[in-house]
Amino acid sequence: MSVGSALSACSGLQSALQPSGHEAREVASLFWVMVVGAAVVWTVVIGVAIYATRLRPEPHGDAVGHRLILWGGVAFPTIVLAALLIYGLGLMPRLREAGEGLRIEVSGEQFWWRVTYRPKDGEAVVSANEIVMPVGERVEFALSSPDVIHSFWIPSLGGKVDMIPGRINRLVLKAEKPGVYRGVCAEFCGASHALMAFTVRALDKSAFEKWLTARPALAQQGKGRELFALHGCGACHRVSGTEAKGEVGPELTRFGERATVGAGLLPNTPENVARFIRETDTLKPRSKMPAYGALSNEDALEIASWLGRLR
Ligand code: CUA
Repeated sequence: MSVGSALSACSGLQSALQPSGHEAREVASLFWVMVVGAAVVWTVVIGVAIYATRLRPEPHGDAVGHRLILWGGVAFPTIVLAALLIYGLGLMPRLREAGEGLRIEVSGEQFWWRVTYRPKDGEAVVSANEIVMPVGERVEFALSSPDVIHSFWIPSLGGKVDMIPGRINRLVLKAEKPGVYRGVCAEFCGASHALMAFTVRALDKSAFEKWLTARPALAQQGKGRELFALHGCGACHRVSGTEAKGEVGPELTRFGERATVGAGLLPNTPENVARFIRETDTLKPRSKMPAYGALSNEDALEIASWLGRLR
């Protein structure tokens, strides 16, 4: 890995060392405390070794040797490691605080994310590969999987928690400032594990409520919609207000709002969406979606621009 890419991994949307949430902040301070603790242990141990072998190489006699072992080798590491352990355990209750009401269900699937909101009044809102959450509120995530183990991680907010078939794991996260963050799958789950990311949009409370309760605009008629139906896309994907009612693949209602296509793979532009439809197998190996290579680029673009208008 080049220095440039190593550094870019430490900044921006996806850095555990630039926390924007309470859990990530605790983890980042734990990281730095551990780094300092380890540096202190290393310095003392190396110092003692240099003292014993270089500065005073002559035989020390039993008393000095025992004192070095007792203080440098037993007492000092025990005190430092115990202090670090107590500090680490002290963080845990704060990481286990309950949510404040809002619960978002996220299901990790090969190789995308199903996101479901169940408002107290009104129908469930289903989305994919993008999580919208309010700022300043502890939100509970209910994490599951229908296929293999995935892991849910938003480095700048917190995580990572495994998504295990047959059980629901809980994670509470709070975004402290509005913004866009990036989440990833942190458990190897198959050929496209590395191509399984998602966007998190943290909005002010009122903007979030508005987003959650907004009715999707009526899907327009047109060639793209006809081609979508003709090629059977609706067998796997749902688009509210149309005959597409599939639930196998990502929900496409309001697809035009999303930042990316293919779970964080490419920016959501008509060209990229058309490419994704025609070259799914090479862009996303082992994805359950077949590549529609027989579709002409023009037809794929028609479908893509229709999808891009779904908001
Ligand atoms: Cu899903 Cu790795």
